[in-house]
Amino acid sequence: KTDSSALGYADHSTKATSSSPRLKVHPYSRYEQGPAVLRKPMFLGDFSLDEQRRFCHDQRNLSFIHMDWTGDKKVQFDLNVAMDKVIRKNGEETKNEKLDRMLEWILSNTAKFHTKESAGKSLQCLSTDFVCFRGLLTQLMCTPYENREGWIVCATRFRNTIYLCAYETPERKAQREGETEMQKTMCSWGYKFEQYMIDGSNTSEGVNENEEYCVMMRSRLHDHSLVYGAEVDGADPALYKTPHGDLGAFVELKTSKEVTSEREHRTLHKFKMMKWWGQSHLVGIPRVVCGFRDTSGIINTLRTYHVQEIPKLSQDYWKSDNMLKFLRYFLDFVKRSVLMDDPQCIYKFERFPGGDITCTYLGHDPKWAFLPEWYYKKVFN
Ligand code: A3P
Ligand code: MG
Ligand code: MG
Repeated sequence: KTDSSALGYADHSTKATSSSPRLKVHPYSRYEQGPAVLRKPMFLGDFSLDEQRRFCHDQRNLSFIHMDWTGDKKVQFDLNVAMDKVIRKNGEETKNEKLDRMLEWILSNTAKFHTKESAGKSLQCLSTDFVCFRGLLTQLMCTPYENREGWIVCATRFRNTIYLCAYETPERKAQREGETEMQKTMCSWGYKFEQYMIDGSNTSEGVNENEEYCVMMRSRLHDHSLVYGAEVDGADPALYKTPHGDLGAFVELKTSKEVTSEREHRTLHKFKMMKWWGQSHLVGIPRVVCGFRDTSGIINTLRTYHVQEIPKLSQDYWKSDNMLKFLRYFLDFVKRSVLMDDPQCIYKFERFPGGDITCTYLGHDPKWAFLPEWYYKKVFN
């Protein structure tokens, strides 16, 4: 299967086998290129997923969340209400969505990818180095500080854009399939909290966890231009104006166990806040509202965090600069490695828990290919 001529890794040899170049993950990022700054993300467009996760080219699931507090706010939200009526996502099916919903959006919005040079002509490329979901970028950014979980990312170069798609690892699949009822309930608490926060919702109804509102963003990390999709929780109606060029009016909602021990303080600052920061910074959402819950699923306190202040709160554990530097360094590696321009050709990047990252060329491999024919045959016509 392996064709090393498709791999451009001449400057990348460590102890790796000849077929899989390797990228070192340093826990405290000694990535040499200097600082990495993400350009302010720009809003391109949006779409919704309905109760059956069908693509809808509209804003039907954009939620509004009225924010009238500054400090902590006392509330009493019982996240167990109507838990028997909840409609969960089908984990197996959502995995198979791959990049499809985002590709549908691109197909319907090719006009937004024209440049000055291509205006009036037929579109020949998307003029971006990468297309992926925001969640994948968050996961990549957390890699230098993550020792317990690995990941799999597949890449395909098509008309000079590299599409990146996350795949579930065998360990993650086993976890998902072995989830207890209590774990499932705790997952649903997060969605229930959103329902409590959203203007005009009826909390005696069960949440349909399939529904989403997604934005498409464009940004740049040094010499890497990026287009990515992201599910976002809602906007403050007092700040929301249309048309808008950024997500300054939006808010990210989170739940967390209220802090009653040193260990819980550490978990919140070391792991959770790192993900909150990465996820929000990537789309330019300025605030996170966390509902702190007790062990039985009652939210007692709401607290607003300003995203740009989160790194300081967690400075003992992680540095936002290292996360962006690592992302830049990994995307460099991807660009150097993924050379074949072919919509069916797959390169597999794999991070093993606590270890380095490998790249394997799989060629045409239907098991891993993720660009659908309806997309690559149509998008540049
Ligand atoms: P919490 O993170 O508040 O517990 P998001 O905050 O990213 O919009 O996600 C909303 C909720 O979806 C989460 O709420 C959580 O309950 C659930 N969720 C998100 N990602 C998940 C994952 N990888 N596995 C399980 N549940 C997840
Ligand atoms: Mg969300
Ligand atoms: Mg959220």
